[in-house]
Amino acid sequence: MILCLGRKSFLSIALILATIFCPFFSSPCFASDGLISLGERLFNDGRFSRFFWKESQGRVNAKLKQGEPHLDVIMTPLGPRPSPFAGQTTSCASCHMVDQAIDDSLGLGMRTYADYSPRVTIPGRNDSLTHAQRNTPMLVGIGSPFLRNRISHWDGEFFDHSETVLGNFTGRNMGWLFHEKDLALKNIIKVLREDDGSGHLGPDFGGSYTKAFLSERIDLKKASDQEVLNAVITAVSTYLNDLDFQTNDKGEYTGSPFDQFLLKNGFSTIPNNGETPKNYTQRLREFLSGLKQPQFIQERDFPSHGKSFGFGHREFQGAKIFFDLPNHPGNKGACFQCHQAPTYSDQSFHNIGTTQAVYDEFHGFGAFLQKYIPKEEFRGPLFHNEAVDKDDPQKFDLGVWNFFGRNKKVTQYLNEEFCQGKPCPLEMMIGRMKTPSLRDLGHSNPYFSHGQMADLFGVLAHYMKVGVQAQQGLLRNPDPHLKEIRLNGHGLRYLERFLNSLNEDYE
Ligand code: HEC
Ligand code: HEC
Repeated sequence: MILCLGRKSFLSIALILATIFCPFFSSPCFASDGLISLGERLFNDGRFSRFFWKESQGRVNAKLKQGEPHLDVIMTPLGPRPSPFAGQTTSCASCHMVDQAIDDSLGLGMRTYADYSPRVTIPGRNDSLTHAQRNTPMLVGIGSPFLRNRISHWDGEFFDHSETVLGNFTGRNMGWLFHEKDLALKNIIKVLREDDGSGHLGPDFGGSYTKAFLSERIDLKKASDQEVLNAVITAVSTYLNDLDFQTNDKGEYTGSPFDQFLLKNGFSTIPNNGETPKNYTQRLREFLSGLKQPQFIQERDFPSHGKSFGFGHREFQGAKIFFDLPNHPGNKGACFQCHQAPTYSDQSFHNIGTTQAVYDEFHGFGAFLQKYIPKEEFRGPLFHNEAVDKDDPQKFDLGVWNFFGRNKKVTQYLNEEFCQGKPCPLEMMIGRMKTPSLRDLGHSNPYFSHGQMADLFGVLAHYMKVGVQAQQGLLRNPDPHLKEIRLNGHGLRYLERFLNSLNEDYE
C-alpha cells in the first residue's frame, strides 16, 4: 500500500493487474513501487509551477518567502476557506486533493483527487482567466484496468497518459501560457537535475531526484533532456495507473455496498478475462434480473462520508432503474448504456444536454438550439470550451468538438466509435463530454463538467428533464439514449440511493 505522504490513501495497489493489462499503459510494461513513489513525489512538488520558476530565479532548491496568492484560500460550497496549500506553489495535488483539507467543522471531507469547487481558481496571468475551464474530475479510478482507453479531460484533449502528463505539467493550470511550453519543460528538467533533496518531499522520497531516479536505473545526470522528460512521463503515468478503487487480491472491486452485494450473491465485480465492459454489463443485467432472493448488505457507518450506506430493497429498486431491468414501474434510466460497469464509465463521449441546459438558463429557452456553430470548413482556430457566461452569449462549451479534427488519435478513436472508421461530421461532436465514473461520488461534489450541480439530486433532475426534451426533439445533437429515459420523483429517490451505494470508505 502506497500512502499519500503518510496520510490515508485511496490507492489500492493494482500491480498484478497492471502487469496483465499493460497494453493500456502509455508507459513501459512494468510498474514498480519506486516509480509509483517518484510519480507521487512529482505530483506533489510545487516547483513545476510558473510562479516557482519566476520567483526562484533559477535556484531550484530555494525556499520561497511567499506562496502563490491564489492558494491562500480554497473555494468550497460554503464560501472561501483557509487552504492547506497556503504559502506553497501550485502542484498537481493542490487541485487534485485527497485528505489535505479535511475539516469536519467546515464540512470539508475526503476527496477522490478532486477539489471542492465547481471550477477551481488558477494562477493569475495577464490573460483575464481566473478559474479552470472545467470542474476538476476525480482521479481515483483513472488507473482501472477496465477502462477501455486512457483518453482524458472532459473534452478528450489528451489521448493517453503521456499526452496528459506533459499537457498538465506545462498547462495553464500550472500557470503556463500556451507559448511557454518549452520554458515549462526546461524548468522540469532543471528542477530534476539540480534538486538536492532538501525540499519537504526529499526526506520521505529518497533524497534528491537524481538519487531517487538512480534506484530506478535512470541516471538523470547522463540522460538527455528527452530522456528526463520520458522519466517524468513514466513515473507520473505509473502513479496514475495505480490510482484505483479498493480491490481484493483477485482484483475484484470490494469497497462499495453494491460491490459487496454482488459478491455476496455470487457475482464477480469485474469482467471475465477478455470480456468487454459492455458485455460484462449485459451479463450483470441478466444476473440482476434473475435474482429471485437477493441477499442484502446491511447499512453501516462510512466514517469518511459521515453517513451510513448499505444495499437493501430501495437501492435494488434504484439498480433496476439504472440497468433498465423489468419491474420498476414508470421509470427507465438507460444509465448503464454509458455508465458501464465495473467503472461506470464507457470512456466515450456523449451529449447529455449539459451545455444546452446552462446556456438556455442564462440566454432563454431555445437559445442554444438557434446558436450559430460553424461547420468544419469555417471553424478556423476557434475553440468553444468556455463556461457559459450570462453576459456573453459567445461563451459555451462544446466538449470534444474542440479536439475533433485537432487531436489526431482522439479523432481516429471517435471516427471508429461513432462512424465505422469513416470521418464523422463535426456537428456530431457538439456538446459531447467524457462519461465520468460513478464510483464514490460522495467525495467529488459538485458534479458535471462545469460543477453546475451541487448534489446528485440535481444531476438526476437534469436527466428527468432531458429525457422529456429528447422525446420532444428539443435538444441539439442529443445522445440517442436520452430518449429512453423516463423518470418520476420516486425514481429519482431510488436512483440517488443506488448511486450512494457506490460510495466507498477509506480509513
Ligand atoms: C489548477 C488546478 C489543477 C492543477 C494544478 C492540475 N489539475 Fe488536473 N485537472 C484540473 C481540471 C480543472 C481538470 C479538468 C480539465 C478539463 O477537462 O477541461 C483536470 C483534469 C485532469 C486529468 C483528467 C482526468 C480525467 O479523467 O479525464 C488528469 C489525469 C489530471 N488532471 C492530472 C493532473 C496532473 C498530473 C497535474 C499536475 C501536472 C494536474 N492535473 C494539475 C485541475 C488541475
Ligand atoms: C448517453 C450517455 C449517458 C446516459 C444514458 C447517462 N449518462 Fe450520466 N453522464 C454522461 C456524461 C457524458 C456525463 C458528463 C456530462 C457533463 O458533465 O457535461 C454524465 C454525468 C453523470 C453524473 C455526474 C458525475 C460527475 O462526476 O460529475 C452522474 C451522477 C450521472 N451521470 C449519473 C447518471 C444516471 C443516474 C443516469 C441514468 C438516469 C445517467 N447518468 C445516464 C453520460 C450518460
